[in-house]
Formats: sequence, structure tokens, C-alpha cells
Amino acid sequence: MGIFSNFFRLFTRNRNIPDELTLESPNGRCKVFFHLKNSDLTYRAERDNKRLINTSRLGFEFTNQAPLKHGFRIIRVMRKSFNETWKPIVGEEDSIINKYNEIAIYLEETGGHERILTLRFRAFDDGFAFRYEFPIQPSGLDNEWIIKDELTEFNFDLNSATWSIPAYQPDRYEYLYEKHHLGSLPSFRHTPLTLKTPNGQYAAIHEASLYNYGAMTLKLTAENRFKTDITPLYDGSRAHIMLPWTTPWRTIIVGDTSTELLTSRMVLNLNDPPREDFSWVKPLKFLGIWWAMFVGEYTWATGDRHGATTEHALEYIDYCRRLGISGLLIEGWNRGWDGSWVDNGDKFDFTTPTPDFDIKKITDHARLSNVEIVGHHETAGSVRNYERQLPRAFEYYRDFGIKYIKLGYVGARMNSHSFHDTHGEFHHSQFGVNHYQMVTELAAKYGMCLNIHEPIKGTGIERTFPNLLTREGARGQEYEGGGITPEHFVIIPFTRGLAGGFDMTPGLFDMTNYLRRTTSTLARQLAFYICVWHGGMVMVADRPWQYFEEQNGFEVIKPAFHFIQDVPLNFSKSKPLLGEIGEFLVIARKDRESEDWFIGGLTNENPRNFTLNLDFLDDGAEYLATLYSDTHDASYRDNPYGFEIKTETVTRDTLLPIFMASGGGIAISLKKIKKS
Ligand code: NOJ
Repeated sequence: MGIFSNFFRLFTRNRNIPDELTLESPNGRCKVFFHLKNSDLTYRAERDNKRLINTSRLGFEFTNQAPLKHGFRIIRVMRKSFNETWKPIVGEEDSIINKYNEIAIYLEETGGHERILTLRFRAFDDGFAFRYEFPIQPSGLDNEWIIKDELTEFNFDLNSATWSIPAYQPDRYEYLYEKHHLGSLPSFRHTPLTLKTPNGQYAAIHEASLYNYGAMTLKLTAENRFKTDITPLYDGSRAHIMLPWTTPWRTIIVGDTSTELLTSRMVLNLNDPPREDFSWVKPLKFLGIWWAMFVGEYTWATGDRHGATTEHALEYIDYCRRLGISGLLIEGWNRGWDGSWVDNGDKFDFTTPTPDFDIKKITDHARLSNVEIVGHHETAGSVRNYERQLPRAFEYYRDFGIKYIKLGYVGARMNSHSFHDTHGEFHHSQFGVNHYQMVTELAAKYGMCLNIHEPIKGTGIERTFPNLLTREGARGQEYEGGGITPEHFVIIPFTRGLAGGFDMTPGLFDMTNYLRRTTSTLARQLAFYICVWHGGMVMVADRPWQYFEEQNGFEVIKPAFHFIQDVPLNFSKSKPLLGEIGEFLVIARKDRESEDWFIGGLTNENPRNFTLNLDFLDDGAEYLATLYSDTHDASYRDNPYGFEIKTETVTRDTLLPIFMASGGGIAISLKKIKKS
């Protein structure tokens, strides 16, 4: 076999291949150049003939063999063009175009080692991507590699502005986004990292299709090179690999404006279609026995204030029915929460409810009320304890008809011994990536949909595994208590948002009576349902009684809540209308099930007035617009309830004036009342 494969390689080798190869996107605006520079692997990129990425090195170092970075020759080159349209089960659009040109460069080391690899580049109109592919090596060469370092660089202009969060911190991804010049970027940074270059181009560095490898973080080296830093395993290596093996795609999304980045579906496109039928996956809006724990009214632990009791669960199911919300999350239902639950990784028992929680009675009542129960598995990062109980823990839920599960992995590391213990594996290491993947695939086998908190970042694998409906993986509203600036949520859609659905727990209506109040106005809470893409599980986060008020002695649903009832979970179109990273964002989305549109707007500390152009509406049609707005005296600091609702009839010719207060927002529903 060895002799045959060597012969085959010699036979197909083409000695006339130039050292520099160019790949253009279908519209010709993005260009990537692969260059075998003095036999080293390098690339650079341009957009509209303007430099986007300067010459950047590629390669690997290993602990058990020589580095793989120089002394190459090109054996052969294959080019192809691809164009497909596919339909996500849940998404921001009902169909996605996946159109690119590709070049695969087959390389062989010279000078004795003769290892082989393929570099595959894809150029899309909205960016480009590349990955390393390592086939089984020629006979006599090792196929078990221990990666010490990935050398991939992204040498953007050091004067570019960047928006990102720090990596390798105890709270994983839950940090405020910071703006820095690339040339003075501190420490290690997570992706997506978004940039604005000095010539005004926007770009975001991320990765797609992350399997069996540590997540990519980025760092500026002492030599001012901007390179990958793969999340290490506890043994210090970056990954233990058995060939054949392929890295995730290294992705660069590009745009003329920051809002253009939001329309890119490149990360999803770089993932495979599902291999099985996932038509059983359905999106869900859900309440939770949850926020009451955050405000100290209930506890996860058993005792007088235990939240997950039969009585509370039945009461909340009734709230779901009255509010028209079809799901209910219940946290703290099982054994393990007593004492310091964040340190209880090895104590959680996923098949034994607390004595005051009658799971049969609750799930029977939920079924009769048409409410889906969202189960909950908090692992406190103890993967060893959780894996010991899988698949039993899924079977247990399945037997009670539970089809949705929220997972939690609090703690600074996985398999450590307490919340702050840093002797363990990073959530974002090869160890963590493989664990989350195993759970996602197992959940799919059991017909379960997942919402993962303290997750691995999204890299588009929900295209392949649509049951991974959403995840946290950023500082969301549950991290309140003054911990979130209004600016944070106008950076999030342009950074974290590029990694897929984010369970940021919108819909907090009570902003007054506790310290951990959200830095938001009421209108902004509604706007979150549109401005942030939540994936297929969207929370209605507050304690349900906060959604009612008294009128003439009767308890009625607050008018603001009607937007939450109406807002769809699945869209056929999404159009950013206005925006600038860190400043403001206005997006319109069309319901997948009707002809109605929904608009959301957010601003930072600055109040804003805009005129919205509605020319995306159907020609000749009329819509009833309901505007849920900040009043002119509203502000997130001292008047979060400054709120008003107005209605008017609009057409595509209407120019709609809107106002957003400091830390505020706007939500608009546009219901079609007359067809064209
Ligand atoms: C952290 C999660 O992010 C939060 O939503 C959950 O309530 C707690 N863990 C408890 O599981």
C-alpha cells in the first residue's frame, strides 16, 4: 500500500504549479492568495483590491515530532465552484445560499519528513475560510500527533479597531466586550473577534465546524503578529490527534458596514447538512422557575424557599397557559443543590427529584395544559459525574415526555473540585469540545433539544445538529447587578451574535425592587427579542406575575407583554436597517408563518432619533404598526418604565420616526391588514 500511494503521489505531481495561487469569491471582491514563500506556508487576503490581511504564516508544532511549517512543495491543486440553497429548520431566514469558489492545495514536505497535508480555501462573497486536512500519512510515518501549537496568523493592520472579550478567564465567555486597537490588544481573546480596518472595512475572525480540537483564541505576539492560541488541555498540549483529522475552518467574515456582517451565513455554510431527520425539532418560548432564584425570592436548594416544588410548578404551568407561552423551565428539581451548589459537581443526581417535587404529577399536568417542560441538568462542570449518569439521565426525562433540556457547566474548569479550582480542563479545550459534542449527539438520539449554558462557543454545528437549539456563551441578562453596560448589547450582535443563537434571557419587566436590576428600559426588553438572535429557544425571563397588572380590580396582562406573545420564533427574512457596532442597531425580521414583520432597535447610552424607511414591505400592502417605545423622558438609569404604545397604519412608502432613550430601545410589530 505504501509503495502504491507513493507512486500515486509522484505520478500526479505537477512541477509547473506556481508558488502563488489566487482564489476569488464568486463576485470577485474577496481574494485570497496562498504563497509558498521560500517553501513556507503563507497566505494573504484582499477585498476590493485593498489589503485586508498581510502575509500570514500557517503551520503546526508538535510535542512528538518535527514542526510542520516549512520545506513544502505543491503536489497538485484542485479547484471547484459550489452553489446550493438550503433550508434551516430554525433560523433567521427560511433559505440560505451557500455559494463559493474553492481551491484545495495538496502539499508534501521535502527534506526527509515527507508528511502530507491539504490546505483548503473557500472564498464567499461575504468572506473566506480555510482549513488544514491531514490524511493518513505515507507508510512509516506516525499518525498519532500531539499538537503543541497551531501557527495560523491573521495579520490585519495593527491600527484596526477590535471588539472582543478576554480568554482563559474563570467566567469563561461572560465578560463585557472591550474595544482596543489591534496593536495594543491585551492578553488572549476569544472569537468571534470583530475588527474595523483603517481603510474602513469590517471583518470578524472566528471558526466553523469545531470538532475534536481546542477552541481557537487569538493573541498578539511580542513580534506583533496576530496568531491563534488553541485552548490547551490540562497536560499543556493543544490536542491529541489520530489521523485522518481536519481542523475547523478558520473564518473571516467581511463587510462594508458592521451591519453587513450580520447578514453573513458563512459559518453555518461551512458545516455539513444533517445526516438524519431532524424535522421533530421545534422552537420554543419558555417561562422559568428561574429568575426568582436570581432575585433571592426562591432557592435552588431545598428548604422554605425552594423554587422547584410541585405547587410552584403547577402554578407556573397555569401562568404559561394564561400568558400563551408554551414552555416552562424548572431548575433545582433534583438532588444535589443543597449547600454550595456551585461546588456540588459530584453530588448532582439527575434521576432523583427532591421529595417536594412530584415529577409525574407535574409532567402529566403540563401535557394536559399543552406546556412543554424544559428539563435542567446543572453539572457544575463535573463532566465525570454527568457522563456516569448518561444516558440514564436522558432516559429518565424521556419517560416523562420531556423533550427540551437546559444544561449548565458553572465553574472555572471542567472536572475541577470546586467553583474556583483551576485544576481541570478548560470548557473550550479538546476535552470540553468532545464532551459537548457527545451530549449533543446523544440528545439527538433521544429526540431531545438542548439549550447549553456555559457552553462551547457556537461554530455553526447546529446546521448538522439542529437539536442544539441555543446556548449561552456570553454575558447575558442573568449577569445583572450593574454588570452590563448599555453598550454591551449593541456590541453583542456584531461579535457573539456571529456565532449563532444566544440565550441572553430577555423579557425582564421588573426593574425596580432589587439590586440586580437590568440596565435597560422596558421597550429595550422587547427589542431584545428581535435585535439578538436567540436560536430556537427563547426565554420569557421574569417571574410571571410581573407580566400582569390590575385594572378595575381585575388582573390583566400588561400591554407591553403582547409584543412578547406576538414575536415569532422563526423567521423567513432578517434585514438590518441601521446600525454601527457599539452604538445602535435596528433590525427587521419577517415571520416564517405569516406576512407580518417585526422590528427591534437598541441604543447604547446615547438617546437617538431616526426615520425608518419601510421600503422592504410589500408593494401596495398595508400594515398595522404597533410601536412599543421609550418616552422622551425615559432612560435606563432613572426612568426605565418611561414607555408608550402607539398604533398607525403604514405602507412601504411610510417614513416612520422612532426614538430610543439612553440605554433604551424600540419594538414594532407590523401586521399585514391589506394585501397588495
Ligand atoms: C448557570 C446558568 O447560566 C444559569 O442560567 C443557571 O440558572 C445556573 N447556572 C444554575 O444552573
